[in-house]
Amino acid sequence: MSPRRVLIVGGGLVGLSCAYELVTRGVTVTLVDPAPALGATRAAAGMLGAVSETHFGETDHAPLLLSAAAAWPAFAAAIVAASGIDIAFHASGTLLCGVTQSDRVEMDRLAALHLNLGLETREVNRSELRTIEPSLSARITRAHLVSSDHQVDGRATAAALQAIVRRLGACFVPQSVISIAPQPSGVTVTDNVGHTYEVDHVVVAAGSKVNSIEGLNRDLVPKVRPVKGEILRLFDPQRSLRHVIRAMVAGRSVYLVPRPNGEVVLGATSFENSDDETVRAVAVFELLSDARSVFPGLDELSFMEASAGLRPARDSGNPFIARDGDRITVLGGHNRNGILLSPITAAVAAGLILEGAHPQADLFEVLT
Ligand code: GLY
Repeated sequence: MSPRRVLIVGGGLVGLSCAYELVTRGVTVTLVDPAPALGATRAAAGMLGAVSETHFGETDHAPLLLSAAAAWPAFAAAIVAASGIDIAFHASGTLLCGVTQSDRVEMDRLAALHLNLGLETREVNRSELRTIEPSLSARITRAHLVSSDHQVDGRATAAALQAIVRRLGACFVPQSVISIAPQPSGVTVTDNVGHTYEVDHVVVAAGSKVNSIEGLNRDLVPKVRPVKGEILRLFDPQRSLRHVIRAMVAGRSVYLVPRPNGEVVLGATSFENSDDETVRAVAVFELLSDARSVFPGLDELSFMEASAGLRPARDSGNPFIARDGDRITVLGGHNRNGILLSPITAAVAAGLILEGAHPQADLFEVLT
C-alpha cells in the first residue's frame, strides 16, 4: 500500500525537494532537521554543471548528470510559480579555462574528454573570449564554452521549497533524528529530545550525517565521507562576469559564479574527512589568490561571506538510492552535485516510494 505518512530526515535541497514531490501528491510529510537548508545547501554555489562536472574516472555519471540538468527548467518554473520567489535560475553557460600553459593543456584534455563522450563543448579563441568575457585575465588565451551548464541560487531555491511545502501542510521539526526502527507495520523514528514518530515510510536525506543515524542497515547503505568545501561570497556592483568560470590555476581548481544580483560566489576547496564546518584561513587566502589570477577585477569587489559545507561523498563516486524494504529509503552520495541532482533524485525517490517504479530509476545505483 502506498505510504500516507512520510518522515524526511534532513532539510537540505534533496530533502526539501522530496518533501515537495510528496506533499504535492497528497502525502503527509514531517521533515526533521535542526537547521533546514543551513548545511551543504547554504554553502553550495549552485552550478548546474552536468558537463563540467564530468571528470576523468567519473564518466559513468554523465547520463545521470545530463538528465538532472534537463529536469531543472521545468522544476525551476514550477517552484517559482508556486512560491513567487526568484531562485535566479540563470542560463549563463560555463567557460572552462587555464591560467598557465600546463593548466591550459589540462583543460584542453578535459574538453577533449567531453567531446569524446558526445557532450556539448566548443573552443573559444582569444579574440572571441575578449568579446564574450572581457574581464578575464589577459593570461587566459583560450577557453571551452559549455553553453548548457547553467546556475541557480541554492539558498533561494531552498527558501522557495520551504514556503511551498509549509503552505501545503508539511510539518518541520527542528531536532536531529537519532534512530530509525522498522516495525511490523510502519517505522518508529526517535529524535534527540526523545520524541518518537510513527510513520509509514522514512526518507533519509541527511548528507554526510547519514553515518550517525542508528538503525540503518549498514550492509545496504553505503558509507558516506564528508568532504569539506570552503567558499566565499563577494559583491560586484559592475556585474563584470557573464558566465560561470571554472579555471585551473597552477594545478588548483577555482570557480566563480556571477549571479544576476551582483553576488559572485567563489569556490571551493576540497578537504577530505573533515567533520567541522569552520573556514580555514588558508582556504580564504588560496581562493582569493587563485580567483584574482583569473579575474583581476576581483580586488575591487566587496567581501561578504566565507562559509563551508560538507559534501557527502562515496568512494565509488556514484549517487545511490538505498531501499530497505518498502519502509526506508536512503538518498546519498551526491557529493559535488547535490543542487544539480536534487530535482531528479526527488522525482525518482517519490516514484519508487509511491508507485514502486520510476522511468529514470536506472540512472541511479538503486540498492535493495
Ligand atoms: N559543485 C561544486 C563543488 O562541490 O564545489
